[in-house]
Amino acid sequence: MDKLKIEGGKKLFGSVKISGAKNAALPILCAALLTDEPVILHNVPALHDVNTLIKVLQQIGVNVEFNPHDPENITLTAKNIKSPIANYDLVKKMRASILVLGPLLARCGHAVVSLPGGCAIGARPVDQHIKGLQAMQAHIEIAHGDINASIHNLDKKLQGAKIVTDMITVTGTENLLMAACLANGRTILENAAREPEVADLANMLVKMGAKIQGIGTDCLIIEGVEKLHGTEHKIMPDRIETGTFLCAVAAAGGEITITHTQPTTLDAVLDKLIEAGLEISIEDNIIHAKMDKRPKPVNIKTTEYPGFPTDMQAQFMALNCISTGASTISETIFENRFMHVQELARLGANIHIDGKVAFVNGVHELQGATVMATDLRASACLVIAALAAHQDTTIIERIYHLDRGYSHIEDKLGILGADIQRIKE
Ligand code: EPU
Repeated sequence: MDKLKIEGGKKLFGSVKISGAKNAALPILCAALLTDEPVILHNVPALHDVNTLIKVLQQIGVNVEFNPHDPENITLTAKNIKSPIANYDLVKKMRASILVLGPLLARCGHAVVSLPGGCAIGARPVDQHIKGLQAMQAHIEIAHGDINASIHNLDKKLQGAKIVTDMITVTGTENLLMAACLANGRTILENAAREPEVADLANMLVKMGAKIQGIGTDCLIIEGVEKLHGTEHKIMPDRIETGTFLCAVAAAGGEITITHTQPTTLDAVLDKLIEAGLEISIEDNIIHAKMDKRPKPVNIKTTEYPGFPTDMQAQFMALNCISTGASTISETIFENRFMHVQELARLGANIHIDGKVAFVNGVHELQGATVMATDLRASACLVIAALAAHQDTTIIERIYHLDRGYSHIEDKLGILGADIQRIKE
């Protein structure tokens, strides 16, 4: 397993280009299952999670062509779906594989998708995905760890329905949205997730011929159509990667320019960074950020979009660890997303947890140590903490988590002047 070696205390300077958003790319790749025509995608990020999903799609029978001159450009053609099955070997690697369930069922009339198990950050059930599909008249049986979904109507089509999910779920909204596009009649999805990645998927579905109203709101109204066609789409920029680089410069100090991003998707994060003392200026899709002091402590409470994203909680924890005072971080989305706390403690952070709240007392300096990445955003948090650990060496183990969601992070940080090295094993 690869490790990262980081010599802390180097300020960051220069320019970094943001990749396509992981959490938009994953559902958008699955949307290719809804048509037998080619879907051309641009700005697809080079990530392990994307590769895993491509393997799931290839096993189903999707033809995936890569452009050798532009690896971020992929064409998917789901002309011949040979087996509408996503088995455990791949689903256990990435729970977002559940996103094939809605489109496969809508397109083929049946699908078998392994039930994702628990995850390091929480139990993460998929009951709302199932409840929504059942409301659309799908017959669902869970047996031997698989979700067996089928449609028993003569025309093998889902039926439009009014669905109110018990809580806001991002991939749940995406699964039901994709399924509803090919259903008979109108589906109303209430309590829908408003995350920009859901809107990116919906906009691409509209280009494929779907009829969707309310994009970007918590009520999506979908008029099912007989058929969707192929299209071409550029994946939106990754707002969490953007936020992670901003936290890195806020922690390490320096002055950076972030390009190919979408600042309008980051309001809650930018507000908190400004409160922490980061100087920010924005021009279209570019963010300039400068930091020449220790960050001020900021209180964070994670909520659904447009609130503060849970996917930025760990990175802000790293920042608060070296801030000039005390702060609280409340995690309301996932029940176990504080695993980075014990690793930060190994770097000298002063944090204690009481239920869903972490109380952080900023220390003047973090020290280097060997730490272990436990999940994707926890890994990013450790990288940020290590960059800020003054003239000290940190080894981060199990960085395969990082490779799932950050494209070439050590190269991008290296260009900004960080002393960061991958140790291959
Ligand atoms: N939930 C249920 N039942 C469901 C669905 C969700 O109880 O059927 C609960 C979850 O357990 C959680 C809450 O609802 O407590 C919200 O979960 P959600 O379904 O919104 O999460 P997700 O769709 O599985 C996506 C992102 C996550 C991100 C969350 C929250 C993708 C592929 N993943 O997960 O991204 O943290 O939304 O914004 O879009 C990451 O990128 O590091 C990551 C974990």
